[in-house]
Formats: sequence, structure tokens, C-alpha cells
Amino acid sequence: MSNGNQTRPGRRAAIVAGLRTPFLKAGGAFRDLSAVDLGALLVNELVARSGVDPSEFDSVVFGQVVPSPLVSLIAREVVLRTALPRSVQAHTVSRACATSIQAATDAADQIALGHSDCAVAGGAESLSDAPIFASRHLAQALVSASRGKTLADKVKAFAHLGARDLQPVPPALKEPTTGLTMGESAEKMAQVNGVAREAQDAFAYQSHRRAADAWASGKFDDEVMHVPVPPGYERVAARDDVVRDDATPAALAALKPVFDKRHGTITAGNASPLTDGAAALILVSEEKARALGLSPLGYLRAYAYAALDPRDQLLMGPAFAAPVALDRAGLSLPDMDLVDMHEAFAAQVLSNLQAFASRKFAEERLGRPRPLGEVDPARLNVNGGSIALGHPFAATGARMITQTLRELKRRGGAHALLTVCAAGALGAAVVLDAAEA
Ligand SMILES: CC(C)(COP(=O)(O)OP(=O)(O)OC[C@H]1O[C@@H](n2cnc3c(N)ncnc32)[C@H](O)[C@@H]1OP(=O)(O)O)[C@@H](O)C(=O)NCCC(=O)NCCS
Repeated sequence: MSNGNQTRPGRRAAIVAGLRTPFLKAGGAFRDLSAVDLGALLVNELVARSGVDPSEFDSVVFGQVVPSPLVSLIAREVVLRTALPRSVQAHTVSRACATSIQAATDAADQIALGHSDCAVAGGAESLSDAPIFASRHLAQALVSASRGKTLADKVKAFAHLGARDLQPVPPALKEPTTGLTMGESAEKMAQVNGVAREAQDAFAYQSHRRAADAWASGKFDDEVMHVPVPPGYERVAARDDVVRDDATPAALAALKPVFDKRHGTITAGNASPLTDGAAALILVSEEKARALGLSPLGYLRAYAYAALDPRDQLLMGPAFAAPVALDRAGLSLPDMDLVDMHEAFAAQVLSNLQAFASRKFAEERLGRPRPLGEVDPARLNVNGGSIALGHPFAATGARMITQTLRELKRRGGAHALLTVCAAGALGAAVVLDAAEA
């Protein structure tokens, strides 16, 4: 059986299609759609566009990072709301911002093992629909009131509540270990690594410029579906609404720091925004691709996950995962025609790039004699990243895989490295191969 030039065992997983919704700011045009709504709309369209008969699919791996308590298994709900047969088994994954990387590597592993031939992998996020919780005291009072036998019992359950107990509790984007938000953690990284505000803003400006150029040149037209927006459905969301054609260095420089208002460097302009959206891929075994006459976009060659102590530099996971993924691929950084690094914050990207190039980091933190190397800016995030495109947590990995494979094809490149940092101080890295010409 052909294993191409893949270095990992088992059957090679071909990525034959990828699609996403536009990514829209949370609280915007997608506010009436849940993550399941977005996921189902997207997967239906992806399957229809692929031309693969729904009966060919055997599994769906799908994720959501901030799940609704009303939907415990988004992957299966997506199956049940699409044209896929009800016999398609499904499982939900979560690895924070690397969730749809996890979905893709799970699907690829099942294909490698021979347990799956044709799978959908992706993720959806609706930060407009993030669950709002009752305080612990109010929740206890509600439970006790529901058990009360008389009206007096029920009323008594609320007697000890104060005004603070009635305040709704939003989901925290805080690290439980450190109590710091993602933004505060990135601020710490900027300080430790000496990443100046100017460098962060310059990187954010480039992200907007490149994303705006990619939209203007039609590069995204076939990878972003149009979504009719409820309640009227007469409006259609066709483009990301975060990316600014008119971004300027001066406007970015004028923004106030958000997470450390006095001494900080991170602003709404050099951070990824809270976003709604969905993205997914179709992965098939090579044999299945041949049998169905499908032309692969490319192949998942190797991957690695890594972690560090969250009390260290929270979003440094890519610098730990990338060398392992490249080793597993049998390749090195100069072999990469493209590098796509998820942009949680410009400070996080610049800190990781610094670590990629640092001999000290390689020796002391990775126990390796040489650093990975400098990433050529002309190969990095060439069509923009999460700062400009938006970051619906669970959708970002699948968005990156599709965007990168399509760009590899345009350039006639052979390999790409993708990295994602994630909560819990996790990192993910994937090496992709372009389809053979
Ligand atoms: C940074 C953050 C707090 C900003 O939230 P926000 O204040 O709601 O952001 P907005 O989009 O309203 O932007 C604030 C202002 O900056 C302006 N702005 C944002 N980007 C800009 C840009 N590139 N150029 C010029 N102005 C910009 C907006 O127009 C807005 O101006 P206004 O107040 O005059 O309307 C929020 O996006 C956030 O929490 N991001 C991090 C998410 C996170 O932690 N993700 C996990 C990482 S993996």
C-alpha cells in the first residue's frame, strides 16, 4: 500500500476539501446562530460542494471550545442536522484553540489505523452564545427552591442571597492555574521577551494588509461559504468583518492598552478578537480518494502536541511542538515553503519566532544543540492570520489547514508547518505535504 513520502505509520490521510464560514465579531451578524447551527450549515455545504456522496462518510470529529450546556456532543448534533446518514458515528474534541487541529489529527489517525475511510473534521464557536452562569449561591438556592415542598420553603431558599449573588457570571478566559487572562499572559510574554509595542503593531498591520489583499485577489472566494443571516435571512454574510482594508500603522499606534492599562502593550488592534464562525475539512484514505476520483489538496504528514508550565510563558507551546513535528516529518524549517502560526496576539507570535531562532532556548529549554532557525517573513502567515481574520477558537485550526494547503498549491510549494498555541500552555504543530503535481 502506498505510503507516499510519509514518515508516520499507517495509511496516509488525504485532505480533499476544506471550507469555512466568514468569521464575524462576536455579538454581530451571527449572534442568533449557535455553534451547532454554524457547524451544521458549514458541514452541509462542505459535503455538498465536495461531490462526495454522503453515504461514503463514516465519521465526524468536531469540536467547540466554549460549549453550550444545552449541547453536550456537538459532533453528533452536527451529523444529525446535515445530509450525512444517521449511521455516521461522531465524537467531540477539545484542545482549546488547537481544537480543530485535534479533530484533523484524530481523523487522520483513524484513517491511518484503517478504522475510517472518509471523515469530516472541524470545529465551530459562537462566542455570541457563550453560556452565562448563575453564581454558586444562586444556583444552590434554585436547587433548594425546586426541592421545597411549600411556597414558604421555596421563598426561604432565596432569603440569604445578597445583591452580588444575583450577578450573572460570564465564562472566564482565565487560566485556572495562574488566574491570568490570555491577554495578561501575553502581556507578560511581551515583557519577558522584550517585544515592543511597535513590533506588535507592525505585525498586526501586516496581518490586516495580507488578509485584505487575499480577499481582494479572490484567494478566499472558494474557501469561505456565504451564510444567510437570521432572523430575516435576506442578509448574507460573505466576508470576514474583522479584517480592515484601511488599517494604518497610525490608527494601531493610537489604541490604548487593554490588559495592563498603564504599562501594557497589547491593544484591541494587536490581539485576536472574540469571534463567531466554523471551519471543517474532509479527510479520506488515499485509496478512497483514488476510488472516488478525488484530487487531494494535500496530506497531513506529521504532527506533535507539547506543553509547558502555565506559570511560565503560557502561549509558548508552538516553540516546543514545532521541533518535534518537524523531526517526525523528517524535515527541517528550511524545507518549509510556508509557515502558518496562529496569531492569538502579535506578542505571542513574535515571542515564539524569537524562540525558534534562539540557540539558548534550544539548548536550555529543548535540550537540542541547534535552534530551529529564523522564519522567513515572506513565508510566514502570507494571507494574514487570526488578528485580521478573527479567531473562533474551535474553527481556527481547520481554517489554517485549508488556507495553507491552497496557498501551497498556488505557489507550487511542497511542505508547510502550522502551529497553534492554546490554553493550559499547550502547543500544536502540524506538517502538511502538498498534493503531488
Ligand atoms: C482585546 C479585546 C479585549 C478587545 O475587545 P473590544 O474592546 O471589544 O474590541 P473592539 O473590536 O471593540 O475594539 C476596540 C476599539 O479598537 C478599535 N480597533 C480594533 N482594531 C483596530 C485596528 N486594527 N485599527 C484601528 N482601530 C482598531 C475598534 O474600532 C474599537 O474602537 P471604538 O472603541 O472606537 O469602537 C478582545 O478582542 C479580546 O479579549 N481579545 C483576546 C481574546 C483572547 O483572549 N483570545 C484567546 C487567545 S487564543
